[in-house]
Amino acid sequence: IYGEERRNSYGPNIEIESEWRPFREAVEGFMGRQWLGGPIIGGQLRQSGEPRAVTAPQDRRIQAGSVHWAGTEEVSEALDQVGQGFAGWNATPVDERAGCLERLGDLLEENLAELVALCHLEAGKTIQDSIDEVREAVDFCRYYAVQARKGIGQTQLGTTFDGRERQYRLEGRGVFACISPWNFPLAIFLGQVSAALVTGNTVIAKPAEQTSLIAFRAIQLALDAGIPADAIALLPGDGATVGAPLTSDPRVAGVAFTGSTETAQLINRALAKRDTEVVPLIAETGGQNAMLIDSTSLPEQVVRDVVRSAFASAGQRCSALRVLYVQQDVADRITEMLRGAMQEQVVGDPSLHSTDVGPVIDTEAQQGLLNHIEKMKRSARLIAQTPLPANAGQGTFVAPTAFEIDDIAQLEREQFGPILHVVRYKASDLDRVIDSINATGYGLTLGVHSRNEETTRHIAHRVRVGNIYINRDQVGAVVGVQPFGGQGLSGTGPKAGGPRYLLRFTREVTL
Ligand code: NAD
Ligand code: ALA
Repeated sequence: IYGEERRNSYGPNIEIESEWRPFREAVEGFMGRQWLGGPIIGGQLRQSGEPRAVTAPQDRRIQAGSVHWAGTEEVSEALDQVGQGFAGWNATPVDERAGCLERLGDLLEENLAELVALCHLEAGKTIQDSIDEVREAVDFCRYYAVQARKGIGQTQLGTTFDGRERQYRLEGRGVFACISPWNFPLAIFLGQVSAALVTGNTVIAKPAEQTSLIAFRAIQLALDAGIPADAIALLPGDGATVGAPLTSDPRVAGVAFTGSTETAQLINRALAKRDTEVVPLIAETGGQNAMLIDSTSLPEQVVRDVVRSAFASAGQRCSALRVLYVQQDVADRITEMLRGAMQEQVVGDPSLHSTDVGPVIDTEAQQGLLNHIEKMKRSARLIAQTPLPANAGQGTFVAPTAFEIDDIAQLEREQFGPILHVVRYKASDLDRVIDSINATGYGLTLGVHSRNEETTRHIAHRVRVGNIYINRDQVGAVVGVQPFGGQGLSGTGPKAGGPRYLLRFTREVTL
């Protein structure tokens, strides 16, 4: 929001050599350094569990550091610790809690180069993606601080017949478990944590296995920003040892989860089995995102937006384009241009300015995507595949690949990587196409390219997705101006970075 109260964080323009160099140097400077991370309980690093090596996805020979994972005892200890911290933090004035978030936003900006290096080395993101990652985290901190000052805390309601002043307040629910994915290891991680904290909850943060170092650094900065040591704990570890016990523990009063639809369903079942109060689950999950292109669209713009939507960040955005519907009349031209554009994409070292597509997160993700490509090669027509660099073998790279298929229903599940499926459709079949997108059950993002306003309006009304993008790419929602989140199998809402997000973290009290 470009208003009086808040501005989105703006980053350097790395097209300018002098603004690019510090990041390149930061990455090189951190190459040999070994980060150490682990559980943080009561403000202290715990090193009891075996340390796990963190290797860079772009070159598995590079070790960025190691992380001690939490065990069952630490889960219980952390729950006790932040459980005791709840009363004090919940009673802290909203303005003070919001101030901590704003200081955290400032500290993130002050440590931009280090965080970019860490994000780049641990998650394999390009420098530009890593900068955007930090900026989005800053935006979440500042946006939720503003929203909390506006709407959380106590308000006068007026007087009842007995002449007494009545008040209404929103307060924290207790301990929130914040469980996050690796693909936005700082932005989503801190988005959940900052929302839960500013509303008065204390937090157990459970980062993804693959990206615990940057989460560790973020919690250190949160403590430096003034969040009390008994209001936040960090528990790196695997889903089964750390995530699952958290969701089944009656000391947890709410869960904020972002990750796959399958894990959200597991958590939902775990919460339902608890023999205690019904607690909220805020789940932001996967998508089978489509884009519709009709014959009035502008081909050059379409191809540019398709390439970014499908392949930027190696396709590892929940918002990314998976199924491109092209109207029959323009399909040959668009696929030909797409083939050309895909040949131009540069896959490789994400620290280089020239790189468009970096690695996928790990060997397991890589293998799953390569299996899908092999399967599709047997059952669908290959449109194009971007060449891999000669030294790709050292990293977990997957070549951007596009196939032509008959129908979205052929795809069993979300493929979380740089794979695009193209379907031709006739203009007379538009409603059937929209209905088949709805029938997947997912509802995260949809792109539309058309210069016919009636068509775009019609599609936007008939499709059931959370975020619709018209005549542009469909990734990179901006906090505060493009609240983000889906429906159906894609999530429960409310939208992250939107005006209703904080409410779900609160209890309402009238007094
Ligand atoms: P994931 O579901 O494998 O893991 C997410 C988190 O859940 C991790 O921290 C993991 O350790 C934890 N976890 C695993 N099993 C658990 C259990 N039984 N109980 C509790 N926690 C458990 O997802 P991922 O591979 O890390 O992330 C990729 C997925 O996230 C994709 O499907 C993507 O679409 C989705 N995503 C959605 C959004 C959104 O806003 N809708 C944003 C980013 C990513
Ligand atoms: N908020 C992320 C995007 O829009 C997921 O790409």
